[in-house]
Amino acid sequence: MIDVDVVVVGAGVTGLTAAVRLQQAGREVVVLEARDRVGGRLLTETVDGVRLEIGGQWVSPDQTALLAMAGELGLTTYPRYRDGDSVYIGRDGIRRTFRGDAFPVPEATAAEIKRVAEELDRLASRMDPLVPWEHPDAAHLDQMSFAAWLAAQTDDPEARDNIALYVGPAMLTKPPHTFSALSAVLMAASAGGFHHLLDADFILDRRIAGGLQEVPLRLAARLGDAVHLATPVGHVAWTPSGATVGDYRARHVVLAVPPTLVNRIQFTPALPPVQAQMRQHQSFGLVIKLHITYETPFWRSSGLSGTAFSPYALVHEAYDNTNEDLPADPRGILVGFVSDTKADALLELDAPTRREKVLESLAAYYGPQARHPVAYYESPWQADEWTAGAFGTSFDIGSLTRYGRHLRTPVGPLTFASSDVAGQGFQHVDGAIRMGEAVAGALLRN
Ligand code: FDA
Repeated sequence: MIDVDVVVVGAGVTGLTAAVRLQQAGREVVVLEARDRVGGRLLTETVDGVRLEIGGQWVSPDQTALLAMAGELGLTTYPRYRDGDSVYIGRDGIRRTFRGDAFPVPEATAAEIKRVAEELDRLASRMDPLVPWEHPDAAHLDQMSFAAWLAAQTDDPEARDNIALYVGPAMLTKPPHTFSALSAVLMAASAGGFHHLLDADFILDRRIAGGLQEVPLRLAARLGDAVHLATPVGHVAWTPSGATVGDYRARHVVLAVPPTLVNRIQFTPALPPVQAQMRQHQSFGLVIKLHITYETPFWRSSGLSGTAFSPYALVHEAYDNTNEDLPADPRGILVGFVSDTKADALLELDAPTRREKVLESLAAYYGPQARHPVAYYESPWQADEWTAGAFGTSFDIGSLTRYGRHLRTPVGPLTFASSDVAGQGFQHVDGAIRMGEAVAGALLRN
């Protein structure tokens, strides 16, 4: 048995940030990671000769914890390509181009979108995303689905479908009837307001040169041989004063894994019942991130930015994802997303049919050239046993107020952290860094 101060389970950004901060303060730390790589939901990999961001990739200006960490690790950023017109396909099935963040919808619909967005901003401004259950309207908002809340706000279906898009398919990646209005407000508050979710130029502002996985790779390099890969943790034995994990005995264990995967670990003694109950009410959303590579970024020559949206299309949003930090590469890359029930349906099809459907959806935005890529890739997070969904986990209706206060409560020597339990930066890398630093800070004060 080897004695250490802290065992960290999981070498995603949360676990690696906690481990680096603890080690910097002189604590003896080991990180046990199930996969044969670090980074968890961040993976930058070359597939069919194209460098892809298979997991997370974008950074927004308010993600100051991530920007500071990138700076500390010597990483630089570059802006997402966005010059030219964006495309929107409306409820009438007509394709229209536009500039800015207001979709080209009928005037009355635009007014309704603006009004409902302002209401969401007002609700978000009264929420501390670390404690959403303390919102003055928490009980009421948590008891109704976001779909029901939207239906009560406006009779305009296209306004509802667009507002729903920003929180449902695009963020929590669940249908809006399956999560509460309070969870929707949390998503907005955690990003600094609903107006940020509406603004792709803000929320998807920049990328990290070399790929976002550089953050966990460089953190892990600092930890050296304290990181043990291919070491899944299946059992944790604990007492009020310490715990045993595999070959290690420690004063503290940080479980830096998504809540859904905490439930797969056996604890002796078992965790308090409320912990297991709580995590049965948290689940991953489902989104398929698609990378489609072309000989050139052909859409640019017809004046398109590559940005495209439609609540009515299979691919509900798409962007130019060309690797601007590799200027010698002439190829153009589009990234697109198929979410929640549309993803369920897509996954029922065989691979060639899925590809055909996706390309058909892209052709509706960018024209027939979109049907002829040189490479096509679907991120497979839902089939990965060490994630099993994307982008993150969220509560079902009513559970944020019922269980939220237990989210970050330690149990004896065990502490729980991941981007899924963050306030600011919830479900994002920024939140993972904030959680990692908060956990390390709490253990150092102990
Ligand atoms: P994460 O899940 O990354 O790490 C947990 C680690 O624990 C994993 O390495 C896992 O293997 C390990 N583990 C699990 N169980 C274990 C066990 N029993 N024993 C040992 N190890 C175990 N964010 C963002 O900021 N910008 C973006 O653009 C995007 N886009 C995006 C796209 C896609 C497709 C995905 C899937 C996700 C994003 N995200 C994102 C979200 C972002 O990637 C995510 O919030 C963080 O990377 C999560 O980091 P964590 O360390 O909290 O968990």
